[in-house]
Amino acid sequence: MQYAQLDIADLEREMATLAQRYSAVSDSNLSLDLTRGKPAPEQLDLSNALDGILEGDYVSPSGIDARNYGDLRGLPEARELGAEILGLPAERIIAAGPSSLTLMYQVMDAAYHYGLSGPSWAGEAPVKAICPVPGYDRHFTLTESFGIEMTNVPMTASGPDMDRVEALVESDPCVKCIWCVPKYSNPSGCVYSPETVGRIASLANRASAGFMVFWDNAYAVHDFEFPPAVLDDVLARAEACGNGDNVVLFGSTSKITFAGGGISFVAGSPATLDKLEARLSVMLIGHDKVNQLRHARFLGGRVEAHMRAHADLVRPKFEAVDRILHASLDGLGIAEWSRPRGGYFIVLETIPGLAAEVVNLAGRAGVRLTPAGATHPYGRDPDDRTIRLAPTFASLGEVEAATEVLALCIRLASARRIRADRDT
Ligand SMILES: Cc1ncc(COP(=O)(O)O)c(C=O)c1O
Repeated sequence: MQYAQLDIADLEREMATLAQRYSAVSDSNLSLDLTRGKPAPEQLDLSNALDGILEGDYVSPSGIDARNYGDLRGLPEARELGAEILGLPAERIIAAGPSSLTLMYQVMDAAYHYGLSGPSWAGEAPVKAICPVPGYDRHFTLTESFGIEMTNVPMTASGPDMDRVEALVESDPCVKCIWCVPKYSNPSGCVYSPETVGRIASLANRASAGFMVFWDNAYAVHDFEFPPAVLDDVLARAEACGNGDNVVLFGSTSKITFAGGGISFVAGSPATLDKLEARLSVMLIGHDKVNQLRHARFLGGRVEAHMRAHADLVRPKFEAVDRILHASLDGLGIAEWSRPRGGYFIVLETIPGLAAEVVNLAGRAGVRLTPAGATHPYGRDPDDRTIRLAPTFASLGEVEAATEVLALCIRLASARRIRADRDT
């Protein structure tokens, strides 16, 4: 029965049972961690063949000596790999160093100080960014570091609430950009619908000059189910309505090969790539093409096969979380969670006002969760109900144990809150 429908005596009985279980768990010295979305060691092992794959042959099929300076847009073969991952023509892609987050910083810097699709944002105050929530904490940290004001827009099952986004863009010329994680969104796992992609592609028609869509397709090929979910081509759709310069796309192999030791990609219109190359040329003479060549040799033409091997390791962990949450929480009316078909995260929503309490209870029982609020700009979830779960890094057994504790903490915190509410 739903907790909200229990009478006080039943609620108190439930609280006593849960408190007993909680204290037993707390005494069992657990040390479990569902915080950051990192690949597990077995996933990293899938790419060990990168080491030594060049066997002393550093010249790319296109005839470039990967050991030397130059070719700021990257090896043609690495750009082809980016095309395979992002589903774009290779000539629209720059292949770069190990981190797409660094590219996002560089692109934001270019738009802010020099202008990308229009005048620089620097002279304008305030500059505002639309941040769909829940979202990726590092996008928010990056944006805040430029002094840009962040405005929350809620996510729906098909992407950001586009009525809200369009209204904001139309009514406020200070709104200069939107962050999007369009496939297996971090953390809800949703995939933007074709309608949402189309509306995002045409946003610049309603916005002030220089508006940018930052399209972080970090989980483009991180599918658990095949055939995988399909994401519409935002660049083609933007170009079709004259907005090709207003979209910049990002991706990387961080969660395909080695996190922090992969290669990254930035994509956009010819004009955008020219501007970015000019900015990049101030910072470096060429990215690590040896690593680009290793990746092209290792992954080129076999991305899906490689990602199927990842899926076999990751899918059981997501299924375990879903199974245990269902078994423990179904019908109680105290939590909802996403069931993504790919990506790295699950989002769980508690009763409003309980997320921090649940994270705290779990922490005291030995289960570390991402701090409540991390999914929102400035670390503030106004409803205090969103919890991000990252099941990839821990072993399957640890994920199961941690989810059992999480479910117990949600039940305990909810029962206590509903009981306390009866007195007010
Ligand atoms: C949405 C999103 N973008 C980017 C990154 C980081 O990418 P990279 O390692 O290429 O900097 C992450 C990592 O968790 C992510 O979730």
